[in-house]
Amino acid sequence: MIISVGADHGGFELKKKIVSFLKNSGYEVIDNGTFSSDSVDYPDFAKLVVKDISLKKADFGVLVCGSGIGISIAANRHKGIRAALVTRKEFAELSRRHNNANIIVLGGRFTPFEDAEEYISIFLKTPFDGGRHQQRTDKIEI
Ligand code: RB5
Repeated sequence: MIISVGADHGGFELKKKIVSFLKNSGYEVIDNGTFSSDSVDYPDFAKLVVKDISLKKADFGVLVCGSGIGISIAANRHKGIRAALVTRKEFAELSRRHNNANIIVLGGRFTPFEDAEEYISIFLKTPFDGGRHQQRTDKIEI
């Protein structure tokens, strides 16, 4: 499974740990940066991860900004993208089971790494339930 990862400066520190964690867990990782704590614009990194998913270069994405809010808003502007800002483990599971989310978003300034590990593990292992949820996700596309 290939995971595309991106973060702005607010998510840079957490993203570094997430990349190592994913690699150590056996996932192939596309690290789209950012690669320092210098100030950057989160939509640029959302676009890179969105592109990997849209072109099927990656199966899932992980995005991190300071709060997780800006980068999830940016990602969700794109067709076919369902980016879920996850702040508790139940949301990691439900975003897959009910929403077929293809990007998990985390707030780098508010999410301890141990929580991020747990959320990402749940997210990547949980299948979509389909059925009535499929018709709902279909209706998101306009
Ligand atoms: C950057 O300071 C911060 O605004 C950004 O990381 C994010 O939290 C925006 O939603």
